[in-house]
Amino acid sequence: MIIRKFTEQDAQAVSELIITTIRISNTKDYPVELMEELVKTETPEHVLQRASWTHFYVAEEAGKIIGCGAIGPYWGKEDESSLFTIFVHPEWQGKGIGRAIVETLEKDEYGIRANRIEIPASITGLPFYRKLGYGFKDGKDTVDEEHLYRLEKQIEAPVIRQVEDAEEKSRICREILEALPEWFEVPESREQYIRECRKWFFAAAERNGRAVGFLCLKETGKATVELAVTGVLKALHRRGTGRALFEAAKAYAVAAGYEFMQVKTVAEGLYEDYDRTNRFYQGLGFRELEVIPQVWDEDNPCQIYVMSLRKSPWEQIMTRRSYRGKYKPDRIPREDLKTILEAGLAAPSGCNKQTTSLVAVDDPEILKQINAVIDPPVCETAPAMICVLSQRINAFRDRCFATQDYSAAIENMLLTISSIGYGSCWFEGHITDEDRICDRIAEILNVPEGYDLVCILPVGKMESEPTVPKKKPFAERAWFNGFGKTEETE
Ligand SMILES: Cc1cc2nc3c(=O)[nH]c(=O)nc-3n(C[C@H](O)[C@H](O)[C@H](O)COP(=O)(O)O)c2cc1C
Repeated sequence: MIIRKFTEQDAQAVSELIITTIRISNTKDYPVELMEELVKTETPEHVLQRASWTHFYVAEEAGKIIGCGAIGPYWGKEDESSLFTIFVHPEWQGKGIGRAIVETLEKDEYGIRANRIEIPASITGLPFYRKLGYGFKDGKDTVDEEHLYRLEKQIEAPVIRQVEDAEEKSRICREILEALPEWFEVPESREQYIRECRKWFFAAAERNGRAVGFLCLKETGKATVELAVTGVLKALHRRGTGRALFEAAKAYAVAAGYEFMQVKTVAEGLYEDYDRTNRFYQGLGFRELEVIPQVWDEDNPCQIYVMSLRKSPWEQIMTRRSYRGKYKPDRIPREDLKTILEAGLAAPSGCNKQTTSLVAVDDPEILKQINAVIDPPVCETAPAMICVLSQRINAFRDRCFATQDYSAAIENMLLTISSIGYGSCWFEGHITDEDRICDRIAEILNVPEGYDLVCILPVGKMESEPTVPKKKPFAERAWFNGFGKTEETE
């Protein structure tokens, strides 16, 4: 049995198949007179008319059409579709042909672009569709005036997955690139991608069990990866799949320690399709680096885009969060701990008195002793901790800025911790209460007289996402040229 696209020559055979099936199968659930009325409308012309605005398929066995089905937009919508005209000849029912037809329809362009698929189902077809995951629309489990159930299935957004297998990479790459002739029409370069993608980082987007897009990264220098090739089926353009693929690839590149990502495309202003590609890359945050006309040929000047994979200081500040969840057990390299400590020591201090000192703890035995005195426990799972010590030294006459000094040091360290991929939280209130946990930690670390242990910062890879606290709106806490003056009231 094969399932193929309907052609005009099939109209007569499909009409006969529908009429036979209605007469034999549907009359078990509907009055004969009603079905006879229905078969009058199922003419070859009617089949052709339906095939003109849907994607119509037939199931064929030894040259004979034994089943059919169609999918089309649900009342013209781009993200909702409907299945129609699903029939399997009575002699071929119960052999998985109906399921194969529905799966084909769900994998069709109209299937993969839909967030919801509806089926007007006959009483006869109901158990079959229910088995395929279709439920009653709006919970209504009775037939309507057309004697049909309205069934529907919500379709999950495309899922992004890293592909490791070389054969699978080539297969997906071919499937997508061959469906995008506007961008990949030159067979030699297409075949080159299909060959070379086998050794690249490869992320695929899948929907309804079908690949709908992919993206590859290749290393072009120790610090740089190139977005070598990406494609998303046109049915899903401008629906977030390309961006989701990119975000997954970017997360991989950041975690792998790359600093830059570059991408090449045909410079803007020459071809409409490539102009859209340019806008897509710009929207992802790529910046124009240079146009080099010689890379491809004179009709296709090469625009190189680049993107920093490191967050800017501003982004670091805006995305830092206090993390109070569990940490992964991975050891923190000493290099990273030193980087964090150096950031703390680099902070400003009143009259440069440098009243803040730091102790990093990564010895599991000592961490255990410290955690035993922190009640309730807050950083039991963290593989390292930074303890902040402060000396109450006067900076200027009788003014002591020790609190400001260690606060600046802590913020520097928190920003550094998040910039190199770890989580932390400023634990001061918890350890400086009446129970003086801070003093007991200081004792464990042999901190001498004259130093107060004022804060601890756990350090580790986060197991979950930090929660995002609500901050008051800008206009409630920051003004221009006078207290309470917003830009509007200034
Ligand atoms: C001086 C100070 C003491 C803090 N002490 C604690 C603490 O003992 N326990 C805790 O869970 N968070 C503590 N925090 C973290 C704050 O709760 C946190 O910064 C605040 O809720 C805002 O969240 P954010 O850091 O994600 O912006 C402290 C923060 C500061 C500045």
